[in-house]
Amino acid sequence: MSFLSDAQIVITALEKYYQESISRQKPVIHQAPLETVVSDLDLSTHITNGRLSGERLSQFLTKYLESTTRLLHPAYLAHQVGTSHYAGALASLIDGFTNNPMAIYEMGPGAASIEWTIINWLLEKVGWLPQPLRVPNNTDQIFGGGVLTHGGSLANLTALLAARSKLAPDAWQEGNPGDMVLMVPAESHYSIARAAGIMGLGRNAVYPMAVDEKGIVIPDKLPDLYQGLINEGKSVLAVVANGCSTAAGLYDPIREIGEFCNAQHVWFHIDGAHGASALLSKKHKKRLDGAELADSLIWDAHKLMRTPALCTAVLVKDFRTIDQAFQQEASYIFHDKEQPGFDFIHRTVECTKAGLGLKWFFVLAALGEQGLEKHVDDQYELAQQAFDYIESLPEFGCAAAPQSNILCFRVDGSDELQLEVRNKLTAQGDFYLSTTAFGGRRYLRMVFNHPDTRLDDIKQLIQHIRDLVNQN
Ligand SMILES: Cc1ncc(COP(=O)(O)O)c(C=O)c1O
Repeated sequence: MSFLSDAQIVITALEKYYQESISRQKPVIHQAPLETVVSDLDLSTHITNGRLSGERLSQFLTKYLESTTRLLHPAYLAHQVGTSHYAGALASLIDGFTNNPMAIYEMGPGAASIEWTIINWLLEKVGWLPQPLRVPNNTDQIFGGGVLTHGGSLANLTALLAARSKLAPDAWQEGNPGDMVLMVPAESHYSIARAAGIMGLGRNAVYPMAVDEKGIVIPDKLPDLYQGLINEGKSVLAVVANGCSTAAGLYDPIREIGEFCNAQHVWFHIDGAHGASALLSKKHKKRLDGAELADSLIWDAHKLMRTPALCTAVLVKDFRTIDQAFQQEASYIFHDKEQPGFDFIHRTVECTKAGLGLKWFFVLAALGEQGLEKHVDDQYELAQQAFDYIESLPEFGCAAAPQSNILCFRVDGSDELQLEVRNKLTAQGDFYLSTTAFGGRRYLRMVFNHPDTRLDDIKQLIQHIRDLVNQN
């Protein structure tokens, strides 16, 4: 066994896999039954015998790669996980190899410094002040802060804990006051309600904000809901906005919601897991106009930033709120010490935390800020082109004009037909889409993320769907 020779086997296999994927030689999705996969991969023999190296590694990898869903395939249009750049994958390898869980600085000064730099870079994109390493005493300035977490769900929870540390600082010790509620768009990602559950607020503490027929928050209706809650003796922990929504990729009116929250001194959280990447685009950042009025925002790099899963930033306008989000003691870790860096550990659920920033940094350093801006612009543009094309076809229609890289559409027919089309496409393996309910109807849903996906792919997809419907 040798690292160099096995690594060479892995890299060679991955290069072949990449070429097969981008050239569309292999299906984008092929789901063999679990029992078949377990047996084809000969898992129990490998567990018993060990020695997965050399030729055995090569053979295993060939079979393993056949069992993957190919997110590197240009017909991958399904869930929001992005097309990772190889530079990010190399960073995953480096992080795995060096294994520097950097939540305490001494366990990974390089990774911690990168996370610090990425967080400050992102804070500036939102319009907040980056955090200086040593915050001056007696300053009126409010400095931002943040942390990288393993995914947007954990990030939403972390942001809401930061909100709670401000509204109810004793809650960590005493438990929730019992009257805390969240105001959330009716169309929000389930991780918000899940965070409410985890925090012990209860599902009933999540109040849906009024939305229009596209699921976008109607800001004029905010005061009524808010005042009603206050009259009932509730205190609003946070108002949440989508930037953008999961199902159809539409943005809530951030500035208007922010102005309302600021006037009421209520925490404003933007769930930008999917759509915050538009902040890098001169053309599309208007969708998040007013983001600086928020108190917290989350931003997934593994969606539109070509970064391998998982990597999410939790950003807060005032670093002190996230510093107080988790208050507990572990004397072997949390102790006053002379150190040349910064510990992120008090800002996260995780204790051992991977060096997530390295993946985002490698992509950024490979493509540059402009490269990532172009990626966002290209994907948003393709969604618009696909919308124009689909809307021009008599037997198809879209749910709404796209505001991001997500587009929902349907072929004439019932909800069941949409599901049937999707199932057949998945079984054929030439295209992989998701579906969603939107405005009470079932839609086929595409998320554009692959730099090689073209309008011609969408035209072929439409022809496939026509053929499937005509076979019925
Ligand atoms: C708006 C929104 N928030 C949060 C999440 C959860 O993010 P993650 O999948 O990284 O946990 C998603 C995922 O799709 C999302 O679309």
